[in-house]
Amino acid sequence: MPMRRFQEALLGQVRQTFPELAEIPEQILTVPPDPAMGDLCLQAFPLAKALRRPPQQIAEEIATGAAGLPGFSKVDQQGPYVNFFLDPVALAKAVLGEAAERGEAYGNPELGAGQTVVVDYSSPNIAKPFGIGHLRSTVIGAALYRLYRATGYRVVGINHLGDWGTQFGLLLAACEDEGDEAALEADPVEYCYRLYVDYSKRRDHDVTIADRARQWFKRLEAGDQAAVVLWTRIRELSLREFDQVYGRLGVSFDYVRGESYYNQRLEATLEVVREAGLLQEDAGALIVDLSDLDMPPGLLAKSDGASTYLLRDLAAAMSRAEDFSFDRCLYVIGSPQALHMQQLRAVLAKLGCPWAEGMVHVNFGHILGMKTREGNLIFLNQVLDEAAQRSRAKVEENQQRGWTEGDIDVLAIAEAVGLGAIIFNDLKQNRVHDITFDWDRMLNFDGDSGPYLQYAYSRTGGILRKGECEVVAEYDAGAFAQASEHDRALLVALANMSLAVERSVVDNAPHHLCQYLLELATMFSRWYTNHQVLGSGEWEAPRLAVVHAVRQALGNGLRLLGITPLERM
Ligand code: ARG
Repeated sequence: MPMRRFQEALLGQVRQTFPELAEIPEQILTVPPDPAMGDLCLQAFPLAKALRRPPQQIAEEIATGAAGLPGFSKVDQQGPYVNFFLDPVALAKAVLGEAAERGEAYGNPELGAGQTVVVDYSSPNIAKPFGIGHLRSTVIGAALYRLYRATGYRVVGINHLGDWGTQFGLLLAACEDEGDEAALEADPVEYCYRLYVDYSKRRDHDVTIADRARQWFKRLEAGDQAAVVLWTRIRELSLREFDQVYGRLGVSFDYVRGESYYNQRLEATLEVVREAGLLQEDAGALIVDLSDLDMPPGLLAKSDGASTYLLRDLAAAMSRAEDFSFDRCLYVIGSPQALHMQQLRAVLAKLGCPWAEGMVHVNFGHILGMKTREGNLIFLNQVLDEAAQRSRAKVEENQQRGWTEGDIDVLAIAEAVGLGAIIFNDLKQNRVHDITFDWDRMLNFDGDSGPYLQYAYSRTGGILRKGECEVVAEYDAGAFAQASEHDRALLVALANMSLAVERSVVDNAPHHLCQYLLELATMFSRWYTNHQVLGSGEWEAPRLAVVHAVRQALGNGLRLLGITPLERM
């Protein structure tokens, strides 16, 4: 972790200068506003109180102590600040050496050894098209899954499929009347969804439908064979359809444990709540009063005895704590379910479950501007098809202009570019914001897009192929004593990767990594415009090592996000 190593050297120096300090606050480390002022900065303010000295004096002492510190070429005190310039040779050795040694693990700090994280993500509802929210949950959750795993955590990925609930009573009633086996087989999700929408409308002016729906769900919860057989079939067909999307996105799960998985535990869960003296009856329904926390009551069972989403999530949380003894459990669910998550945590806190502290609602905003057929629903496979079609046109355009060398598999590249565009668009900004779905912007090869990063990556490959130096050759890092400003900037950017990965994990926010990769790609492009690599004499070998490192960093970053790095495009 190059940059951390330099930061730690500075903190070690401060500790040595002031052995009386019990702890050194992280905030003393900053980055100067302008790279011309230095690469790292220590500010003395946060130490003034503990040391009972004016900040300026503290800065002077730090600067004196740090003179000649290995790894730094210049120390410059400015009032209460001390700016440090990294020694480019030390920097190049650290960065280029680590990229070559760690390879696919370059940029991944070791954060989570011995810790377990459960990630609950995607979680679409069977018999319904993938919701827009489920696309976001899938993309964000899968990125977090990879980020945690890359940083040393044990990760358990769970697809908490929406496969239980009173709505299936209605669907089963509809199937009883209109069941058309051939239509179900041909297009299961679409068929079920249309039946469901039709019957929800009819239910509004036909009370017998509501009654029958309730009966069917009761039968399902009681394990009635006819109900279970039909439900199982609908579940399997839905899952088969979802799997096509997961396959294209390269997403998988350790467990597909839908809500139905927790059925056998619902009684026991209610019993735990009852024994804690928390269960109340309210007009036949079972609730937990949360008014002391200014929340509406948590509904655990409806008056007809049917279980609720909240009860099933309560059972799921307990089962996960038992099975995986997690340190963190991430719920990658849209912001509209904030109250549900608060109620879930509140009930667990009242039950005295300390592990509930580790449960985090990894919330996210809406997708705006995506054309949908009905309500908020999309047929995701069609969206992915459109992405691939649109990017195919772009790739072919590039080919005609002669930007692409050699034979390429246009279809495979178009698929990777199209999906890369969708994934990056979803991840590039803070997840709590709404995102806009704008094809032109997402597919802009020169913009802040997935294809832009894939293109930068493919350029690194092109350079290495042209120079026939696919493996890192011997080079003299001493050359960087004469590093240009672009060399320095690119090396510093490379060194910063592990900080970006760390921030993404700590905040459960992949956009830090996205923004970092955009910056790295831009820095690389500027560097490459200003420096000859192949045929640059004594600079050729050291600069090829830089290209190798950039390629490693971009490739690793893209893979973490779930985007395919492309050799040619
Ligand atoms: N199926 C739910 C929905 O579509 C999302 C489930 C999220 N996970 C959970 N443990 N509640 O809204």
